[in-house]
Amino acid sequence: MRSLISITDLSVEEIQSLIDTANQIIADPDRFAHVCDRKKLATLFFEPSTRTRLSFEAAMYELGGNVIGFSSANSSSAAKGESVADTAKTVSCYADIIAMRHPKEGAPLVAAMNASIPVINAGDGGHNHPTQTLADLLTLYREKGRLNDLTVGFCGDLKFGRTVHSLIAALARYTGIKVVLISPKELQLPSYVKKDVLQKHGIPYTQTTNLEGALPQLDALYMTRVQRERFFNEEDYLRLKDSYILDPEKMRNAREDMIVMHPLPRVNEISVAIDSDPRACYFKQVLNGKYMRMALIMMLLEVKA
Ligand code: NCD
Repeated sequence: MRSLISITDLSVEEIQSLIDTANQIIADPDRFAHVCDRKKLATLFFEPSTRTRLSFEAAMYELGGNVIGFSSANSSSAAKGESVADTAKTVSCYADIIAMRHPKEGAPLVAAMNASIPVINAGDGGHNHPTQTLADLLTLYREKGRLNDLTVGFCGDLKFGRTVHSLIAALARYTGIKVVLISPKELQLPSYVKKDVLQKHGIPYTQTTNLEGALPQLDALYMTRVQRERFFNEEDYLRLKDSYILDPEKMRNAREDMIVMHPLPRVNEISVAIDSDPRACYFKQVLNGKYMRMALIMMLLEVKA
C-alpha cells in the first residue's frame, strides 16, 4: 500500500506512466468510466480549497467511484480536539483512499503513518502540494512537448508557495533544467529548498526581483499568489501583495512560445487581459489536474482500465 506525501515519492518513470495514463484518459474517457466502481475516496480538507477538492471529487466520479468527506476543520471532529492520527484510523474504516489538505506541515504524513489505506497529500501548510505538481507537469509536457531542457521562472511568493516547492523538487530530476527565482527579498525561496534540491541536483539558478528582465529567457513562467494566510501580520501582506502584476505590456518581453502557468486562485498577479493570450495556460492546468488525479487514484488503488 502506497501513499503520496511528497512528489519525490514517485520516480521519474512513475510520473511518466501517470502522464501516459492521463493522456489515454483524455483520448478515451469511456474506457475509464468504471475502473473504480464501488470504491470510495474520502476528502479530508482542514483548509479551504476550490480546485483541489472538487478536482479530486470529479476525478473519482469520472472513474465510477464515490466520494465522502468534509471541507473545513470546524465541520469535522478536529473541532472537538481529535488528532489527525485518530481521524486517519477512523476514515480507513469507511473509505478506500484519502486526499487530505491541512494547514500544518507534515499532517498528511502523520495520517499516512496511521491509515490502513493510501493517503494523498492535497497540500500541507507552506510545505508541499504534489498533486498540483502532477497537473503542472502534464501541462508542461502537453504544451512544451518535453520535461527536459526547460528554463522555468517562478514568480511571487516563493517562500510560502507550496506548489513552487513541489514543482522545483520534481523538475530538479530532469536534465537541462534552469530555474529563475523572481520574488521580493522577503519572499525568497527557503534556503532548505535551494540547498537540498537545487544545489544537490546541480540545477543552475538565479535570483532576481525584476520580472521584466527575467522574461525573455523563459520557456515557462509560473506565477503565484502571495499567501496571505501564512503571514504573521497583515501589514507585511498588504505591502507585498501586489509586488508583481503580469500584464499585456510585460508579456511583450516574453517569447512567443513561453507559457504562463499559475496554480490558482489568482488575486491580482495576472491581469485578466492575459486570459485571451494563447500563451495563458492556467485554466488548462485546472483540467490537467483532474486527469492526473484520476491517473494517480488508479495507481494507488492498483486498478487498471
Ligand atoms: C494552491 C495551494 O493551495 O497551494 N492552490 C491550488 O491547490 N491550486 C495555490 C494557492 O493557494 O495559492
